[in-house]
Amino acid sequence: MAANKHDDSVIEASKAIVASLPPMKDLTTDNITENVHAINSQTPDPRLKYLLDRLVVHLHELARETRLSTDEWMAGIMFLTSVGQICTDVRQEFILLSDVLGLSLLVDSIDHPKPPNSTEGTVLGPFHTHEAPHSTLGSDISSDPDGEPCLVVCTLKDVSGKPIEGAKIDVWETDSKGFYDVQYQERDGPDGRAVLTSDKNGDFFFKAIVPVPYPIPHDGPVGKLLKLLKRHPYRPSHMHFMFAKDGFDPLITALYLRNDPFESSDAVFGVKDSLVVDLGKVNAEQAKKYGVKEGSALIEYDFVLVTDQEAQELREKKAMEAMKAQGRKMKMWKGLPIPDLD
Ligand SMILES: [Fe+2]
Repeated sequence: MAANKHDDSVIEASKAIVASLPPMKDLTTDNITENVHAINSQTPDPRLKYLLDRLVVHLHELARETRLSTDEWMAGIMFLTSVGQICTDVRQEFILLSDVLGLSLLVDSIDHPKPPNSTEGTVLGPFHTHEAPHSTLGSDISSDPDGEPCLVVCTLKDVSGKPIEGAKIDVWETDSKGFYDVQYQERDGPDGRAVLTSDKNGDFFFKAIVPVPYPIPHDGPVGKLLKLLKRHPYRPSHMHFMFAKDGFDPLITALYLRNDPFESSDAVFGVKDSLVVDLGKVNAEQAKKYGVKEGSALIEYDFVLVTDQEAQELREKKAMEAMKAQGRKMKMWKGLPIPDLD
């Protein structure tokens, strides 16, 4: 067996770092935080430095405020370990954890602020994949024979009402039993999902099935956590949409059905009133135009995207307001706030 040998260049670089830092010994509950900050502050990236500073401050405060026990710390470590271990190419337990803690919705709201006249965003969820086929408008995205057929007819415009042509639109939903395609061990390929392109009028339409409520995966660590907290795992009936078009802020959103039993208690906090729709019925003209049965289920919605520039300006404005309210002297760097130390 070859003898182990550490890389000599690493020890030399490490000694140089030590020389530039104050001595760090006998650290206490009172001074550990500032010392970790000092050693992390060597990065030339001001945003990384700021994020790590705040992460360590809040982690340390959590421990100090709660008098965190070693057993609880270890339980937390083991919990995060199990969250990682259950992840696969098609199962994303960390996103699920972020979702049930409300972090996903919070980050989306911060990073993609919407002016009042545009479509609100919501959680991506753990079931978006990149394997959906490009489909032509009017395609049927679901092969589930038990699902209630549902025609979906939408428009896509900018805030001035101008149609947006050629946007890439991902749509995805569960089958009638409340499972996404990726939740089936033996599956032939993508189902209940498609990628569409808006036409010259900004219109897009497809055939799907009426969404149903479903529980988020609760056979893993996140499910165990919900049980401990006496929380239910259900999401109200919804259909996901994701829009991408050069020059526009990406929009991740969903439409929810009104009067769903879980409309006001979504396990991942995604429901917004502006995204709740009434399930309609296809009229005779639509039946003829789209080749579906008159009287069958119908979802109609007009989506509005904001431009990159509009989103960036609003994001910066809100960031500076938030920093001012916190009493911090900040400046923007590459579109994100960092401490203003000058
Ligand atoms: Fe979903």
